[in-house]
Amino acid sequence: MEIPQKIYFKLRPLILPIKKITNYIQEEANIIDLGCGKGLLLNYIINFKSYTGVDLNTNPHHSSNNVKFIKADCLAFLDNNLNKYNTFLVIDLIHHIPVDTQFIFLNKLISSLKLGDILIIKDINPRNFIYKFWNSFHDFIISKQIINYLDFEKLKENLPGDIQILANFHSRIFLYDHYFLVLKKC
Ligand SMILES: C[S@@+](CC[C@H](N)C(=O)[O-])C[C@H]1O[C@@H](n2cnc3c(N)ncnc32)[C@H](O)[C@@H]1O
Repeated sequence: MEIPQKIYFKLRPLILPIKKITNYIQEEANIIDLGCGKGLLLNYIINFKSYTGVDLNTNPHHSSNNVKFIKADCLAFLDNNLNKYNTFLVIDLIHHIPVDTQFIFLNKLISSLKLGDILIIKDINPRNFIYKFWNSFHDFIISKQIINYLDFEKLKENLPGDIQILANFHSRIFLYDHYFLVLKKC
């Protein structure tokens, strides 16, 4: 079901704790938003230097000097030179990626980070049966997909030694339980 952008931009902030994401974005950041969707977050980020949104379904025409949308598969996109970015957003993308590819994608992304780079991962937290069922149902209706929950514990256990966990918490709005992991390369 394709929700018109105007309605999506009004509804999504009701279930997504946007401030908890933008809190970790520094001024003058060069941001890459992987799985950016309709670019909702761009409306909430201030004082950034550049923003690039990458998504299979984004509209590449909405680009300007320092804002670019690229229609691409995020997995393949990681093969590009990512040096110009210092802030990486992965917001509700991972549950759309097959389980066997989730760690390949995240490990590749983490290994491409440079000193001081920030990676913000936010995904659905299947903390209990009700939230898990509701989020699976929601995504099935909206995206016609069975979602793949990320094992955050496994990800944390296998982080390279030079990756610092800046934040690790969950935040619930209604039946939407969000898991946040904010990483920094040291
Ligand atoms: C739940 S939406 C999140 C959108 C946005 N990050 C937000 O928080 O509003 C997930 C997005 O991931 C995109 N997506 C899923 N798999 C992808 C892939 N392999 N490469 C690029 N985008 C992908 C979908 O097209 C969709 O727009």
